[in-house]
Amino acid sequence: MNQIINPVEKVDAAFLYIIGISLVLLTLITITMIWFVVKYRRSRNPVPADIRGNWKLEVIWTAIPTAIALSMFWVGWSSYAGLRNVPANALEIETIAQMYSWIFRYPDGKESDNEIVVPRGHPIRLNVTSDDVIHGLFIPAFRIKVDAVPGVHTYAWFYPEKNGKFSVQCTEFCGIGHADMTAELRVVSEEDYNLWLKSDEK
Ligand code: CUA
Repeated sequence: MNQIINPVEKVDAAFLYIIGISLVLLTLITITMIWFVVKYRRSRNPVPADIRGNWKLEVIWTAIPTAIALSMFWVGWSSYAGLRNVPANALEIETIAQMYSWIFRYPDGKESDNEIVVPRGHPIRLNVTSDDVIHGLFIPAFRIKVDAVPGVHTYAWFYPEKNGKFSVQCTEFCGIGHADMTAELRVVSEEDYNLWLKSDEK
């Protein structure tokens, strides 16, 4: 099997990169501003200098921020591409939102309510739609957030590498039961997944 890059890593890297740059800029700008306020205060500089045009400075303060903004775009874009490019061998699960629950339909016809069970180590593709109003599928542990829209078929994918239980939530205000529209994602071993598929458990 060829190497699958978990999009979680790319999304987190983009987040850290952008917040890192923001912190560096915040610090540098604040320090420079305070330093200038003190150095060029009125008591020491009663007559302001009238400076016009400095092409070198202008090129620098245009080129550097442009390069920084483009690098943030690139990091963000590659994490987005990671979230949208599904590996070819992904297990497909139909994901249907309705007021106020989630239905998951597996390739063999098994259906579960408010619980997704997936085998560890397989990329999982969720084909998402809605039966009534707009809902939002949110699985924070896998950095997934897509709207479920009636009549529209969209998707999300994730790569569960460890066993565990993760929360699934609706993130569009879809009506009075919105807050209860939660589900649980359970990542289990392949054997347990196959047992679960054959069981009557919903
Ligand atoms: Cu479904 Cu909120």
